[in-house]
Amino acid sequence: VDRDTVVLVPAAGRGERLGAGVPKALCLLAGEPLLRHAVRRIAAARSVAAVVVAVPADQVDAVRALLGDLAVAVTVVAGGATRQASVGAALAAAPPALPIVLVHDAARCLAPTDLVDTVADAVRSGQDAVVPVLPVLDTVKAVDPDGVVVATVDRAPLRAVQTPQGFQRSVLVAAHAAADPTDDPTDDAGMVERLGTAVRTVSGSEEAFKVTRPIDLVLAEALLARTLAGPP
Ligand code: C5P
Repeated sequence: VDRDTVVLVPAAGRGERLGAGVPKALCLLAGEPLLRHAVRRIAAARSVAAVVVAVPADQVDAVRALLGDLAVAVTVVAGGATRQASVGAALAAAPPALPIVLVHDAARCLAPTDLVDTVADAVRSGQDAVVPVLPVLDTVKAVDPDGVVVATVDRAPLRAVQTPQGFQRSVLVAAHAAADPTDDPTDDAGMVERLGTAVRTVSGSEEAFKVTRPIDLVLAEALLARTLAGPP
């Protein structure tokens, strides 16, 4: 396969829920910044020709230095006030000749290389939009503002959605052009759904979990320690 995919990596969040005191993207995991783990795994995918990372404006130079030696062309741009704005800034800097665009949260820094190719392959096969999903394991309830349960939601049709999410470039460009800038959707497929475009699913990966809370760092470190130790 020719390398036909650009991956946009929004990494401009402050990551306050993590409580690490540094931007989440620069938080160290097994001695390597979280963002570098993420981009290194993306860069290893056979589909990927380029990566565009959006980071806080005051981190652009530092992140360029951090990612400059990876095996794929990495562009670093300043992100925006919202995730949507950060993805928009990265999209504007993406090489226009690449027909497949993936969007991947830096915070899903252990997402396997294979998942990147699975999503890109599904887009290449003709899908407009593709998201990796896992079943929802917990029972889910709806509550009123007082916290009183009003309903137990049938979880059978529910899926937890991950990244990388993949799109025909024209579809993601149209979704951003039509988007309300005051809106801040939690994922990119949500913007595409609003255009009435079908979004397909592929099987996600447990390793593509999002590092959000302090406990997620513990899990990530444990997974990395297991990998470094090699097979049992
Ligand atoms: O806050 P949350 O974990 O949902 O953020 C998801 C991703 O979006 C993170 O990788 C974060 O760095 C990124 N983000 C961004 N620009 C913002 C806010 C979040 O790139 N203004």
